[in-house]
Amino acid sequence: MAEDLSILKGTKTAQYESLVPQIKGLLEGETNLVANLANIAAALKEQFNWWWVGFYWIQEDELVLGPFQGPVACTRIKKGRGVCGKSWEIEKTLIVEDVAQFPGHIACSSFSKSEIVVPVFKNGQIVGVLDVDSEHLAHFDETDRAFLEKIVGLIP
Ligand code: SME
Repeated sequence: MAEDLSILKGTKTAQYESLVPQIKGLLEGETNLVANLANIAAALKEQFNWWWVGFYWIQEDELVLGPFQGPVACTRIKKGRGVCGKSWEIEKTLIVEDVAQFPGHIACSSFSKSEIVVPVFKNGQIVGVLDVDSEHLAHFDETDRAFLEKIVGLIP
């Protein structure tokens, strides 16, 4: 396992292309879920310095806060509520350019302006979501969707 992350500057695609194999390396041989989610959140934060990046994991009828990097956040989200709960409900990635315009958005931080939420599947079943918040409007696009879906697909 690599001990230090090598941080690349350049286009978003180039940054993801450098990061994905390093995340693969971090996950290699480790089966503990918390350890793996924690390292993915840390690696993404280190590379992109987003406002907030982390996981919510499904526990019965709620999403419960998991490993993350950034300011403290709300701990429980009901299915269908906010961007995370909606992504869980429809089992699809959601890109929100302006969270103020998203009905039911849960404002954990007033600094958060745009958001992407990517569902995580295990054996075809949704098990949680990766949530990324930015302090800039319209910060996430199809490149983020493609690479973040790929990254959560690496979770063993
Ligand atoms: N804004 C999210 C809640 C989680 S925090 O942003 C960390 C939502 O609407 O689901």
